[in-house]
Amino acid sequence: MITKEFKTAVTLPSNEGLKKATEWLTQGEVVGIPTETVYGLAANAYDPAAIQKIFRAKGRPQDNPLIVHIAQIEQMSELVTELPETALLLAEAFWPGPLTMILPKAERVPLQTTGGLETVAIRIPSHPVAKELIARCGFPLAAPSANLSGSPSPTSADHVFQDMRGRIPLILDGGICSVGVESTVISVHPDAVRILRPGGVTAEMLAQVVATVELDKGVLAMVSQDAVVSSPGMKYKHYSPKANVILLDGALPDFVDYVSRHAAPNTYALVFAGEEEALSIPALVYGKEADPRTQAQGLFAALRELDQRGAETVYTRCPQKDGVGLAVYNRLIRAAGFQVISLSR
Ligand code: TXA
Ligand code: MG
Repeated sequence: MITKEFKTAVTLPSNEGLKKATEWLTQGEVVGIPTETVYGLAANAYDPAAIQKIFRAKGRPQDNPLIVHIAQIEQMSELVTELPETALLLAEAFWPGPLTMILPKAERVPLQTTGGLETVAIRIPSHPVAKELIARCGFPLAAPSANLSGSPSPTSADHVFQDMRGRIPLILDGGICSVGVESTVISVHPDAVRILRPGGVTAEMLAQVVATVELDKGVLAMVSQDAVVSSPGMKYKHYSPKANVILLDGALPDFVDYVSRHAAPNTYALVFAGEEEALSIPALVYGKEADPRTQAQGLFAALRELDQRGAETVYTRCPQKDGVGLAVYNRLIRAAGFQVISLSR
C-alpha cells in the first residue's frame, strides 16, 4: 500500500541540511541523497527496519539487493568475510567512484539489505555530499537508485521529488549527477572480474588492473523472469518510461528515413546533438554521438521528459557498444524491452 506519510523537504547540503539528514538516518528513516552516478534512497545498512522502508518507498521486489555505500576503504572489512587482493587493487584504482564490488558478506550485514544473498555489494561514492553524510552517520548507507521501481533513475533532486514525494521525509539537493547512469557492478574472483552491470568504470578501465574482465551475458541479452541470475536486478524491467521505446541501430540517414516512414501522433525521436533538424517528428537530444559520457549524463532526464510530454512511441539512435557507450546501450535496451531494429540499406 502506498502511504503518504511525510511532507517531503528538499534541502541544500549546507551544514544544517547535512545535520537534518544525519538525524533522520540515525532515527532509521530514509533520505534521498546525491551521488555522482544517480540519486540514492539511503538508510542505515545495518538496520533491517530502516531497509524495509527503502523497499516500501520504491515498491521494490524484496529479492533485489541493495548497494552498501561506505566512506573509506577500511570500512570494507566490517562488511565482508573475505577481502581478495584483486578487490583491494580495484578499490585503490577506482574508489571513490562509480564501481560496485560484490563480495561475501559478513554476518552483521542483514539479509534484508542483500536481498537474501550471502554476498554484499559495496562502493565508495565520489560525490562530496554522499561521502560527508556517510562519515557523519558513522554507519554504512544502503541505497538503491531513488526512483520508483521500474522507472528511470533520478539524476536530479527534482526527479527524486517527482517519485518520492510523500514517501520520505528529506531529499538533499546536490545538483545534477555528473556520471548519470548507475555504477558498474562487478563480481570479484581471483585474477578476474565479471561485469554484471556496465557503468562509468568501463571494461577497458578494469582491464588495466585485472588480468581477465568478463561480461555477464545478462548485460546484452534478455534474462527470463525465472532464471537464476548473478545479479537479481538483471531480470527486472528497468529504466522504462511509459512510452514504447524502440532502438534503431544504424546510420543517421537510415534513421531519418525509417522515422519519416513511421511518423504518427505522439511519436518522438531520441537522438544525438545536432540531429534534431534532420527529422520530420519532434526530437529530444540525449548526448553527443562522439561522446558517450554525455549520453550517460543526459539519458535518464530525456526518458523522463518524454513521459512528461506524453510520448507514446520513441525511436532512439543507438549508442556505440564500448566504453561508457556499453552502459548507455545496456540501459537503453532495457528501456526498449529489448526491441532493437537493425537498419541496413
Ligand atoms: O550508482 C549506483 O550504483 C546507484 C547509487 C545510488 O549508488 N545505486 C544503484 O542501486 O543503482 P540499485 O539498487 O538501483 O542497483 C543495484 C544493482 C541491482 O541490479 C542489484 O541487483 C545489484 O546491484 N546487486 C546488489 N547487490 C548484489 C549482490 N549481492 N549480488 C549481485 N547483484 C547485486
Ligand atoms: Mg535502480
